Amino acid sequence: MTDQIKFDGNQLYIENLKAADLAEKYGTPLYVYSSNQITRKHRALRNAFAVMPGMRILYALKANSNGEILKHIRSLGTGADTVSGGEIFLALRSGFSPGSISLAGVGKSDRDIDFAISQEIGVIIVESEGELEVVSRRAKALGKVARVSLRVNPDVDAHTHPHISTGLKENKFGVNLDCAGGTVKLAAGMKNVEFVGIHSHIGSQITDIEPFAEAAESIREFALKLGRDGIPVRQIDFGGGIGVRYRNAIKHELLPHEKQEENSIDLSALAKLLKDRLSLPDCELTIEPGRFIVAEAGVLLTRVLYRKESSGRTFVVVDAGMNDMMRHALYSAYHQIVPVELSGSGFETVDVVGPVCETTDSFAVQRQFPPVKRGDLVAILTVGAYGYSLSSSYNSRPKPAEILVDRDYARVIRDRETYEDLV
Ligand code: LLP
Repeated sequence: MTDQIKFDGNQLYIENLKAADLAEKYGTPLYVYSSNQITRKHRALRNAFAVMPGMRILYALKANSNGEILKHIRSLGTGADTVSGGEIFLALRSGFSPGSISLAGVGKSDRDIDFAISQEIGVIIVESEGELEVVSRRAKALGKVARVSLRVNPDVDAHTHPHISTGLKENKFGVNLDCAGGTVKLAAGMKNVEFVGIHSHIGSQITDIEPFAEAAESIREFALKLGRDGIPVRQIDFGGGIGVRYRNAIKHELLPHEKQEENSIDLSALAKLLKDRLSLPDCELTIEPGRFIVAEAGVLLTRVLYRKESSGRTFVVVDAGMNDMMRHALYSAYHQIVPVELSGSGFETVDVVGPVCETTDSFAVQRQFPPVKRGDLVAILTVGAYGYSLSSSYNSRPKPAEILVDRDYARVIRDRETYEDLV
């Protein structure tokens, strides 16, 4: 669903603005986001979860933490799921109220914890007994009571890329369910800790509902057991992970059809599942989507530097590199790539690669692609999540600018870095 990023005739548009004009004006590589696409994805989620009016959405900042995007998402009524002091800082600065912020993460530093406690954020999600003890000590030292949830590991296979799977018992995340009861009891008995509830996040880019069903069932049983033991669970945070489609994001007769089928989560089935299994009396449910809200809103515009023929292969070398968008280098993730202007001259098989000195610096391998030449613009699609947020200045490449489009209006929401920024 990228209805705000589409071709009109043979020209790619982001909302009402021509991608080619944006690239001309702001240079490449360039991240461009559609604010109305974000609004639509948020609305799709809210509508699907209308069956659970009390459910809260906490946007996972790690997907995209540009301050202007955060302000927009906050204006839609979400809270914020953070994983570092830096993300708490950004959330507060973008107007999220402290009570609407949660802090997760397997290795919080004392600085992260102190900041979370002193800012009185909604909940700190602890992932081990050791961490619980540190939170309790720091809360005491600061003269506060910290609200704490426990992240449990439901030992569920999320059927996603192994690098973004988190809910198996061999993963580093959370406390295994067989010992989680002990940790909760410890928390419930601490003076400077208020036990709030349970958290679970089984992985990212999940496109199959079954792992969610399994996790929900385990969490339900655990929450009910705690209730029977006299420890009320007032909040269940079911994490993020709802996947999006990366193939055929844009369909056009002049673009190759991307053959491999992709599953996607039926949101109303997910809503029903969570309503059936996780609406417990006096217990609030929250979810923490990141990718689902922002992925399809972002494109990375990049210009073709060279065509290079070598050993029977054609390389299209573009001016964006793995430092700007790492997902292909890290997870071999598939992103549709389209020329910004379609000419209708058939397809050829190419590798689309960046300028960085690494073989993994590529965006597409042996891909059917309309012929392009030096100077042409192409767009890498569905990069709104984990695009800029994973970027670096590796090879001393200044990071790209970010632009936010709202109908006919575009504005710079992060300046392109300069050489001076590298110093
Ligand atoms: N909550 C927790 C505790 C998480 O660890 C994550 C993602 C989320 C929520 C949001 O998950 P989402 O709804 O975005 O799937 N860099 C990888 C994704 C890593 C996800 C890490 N945790 C990628 O580019 O695919």
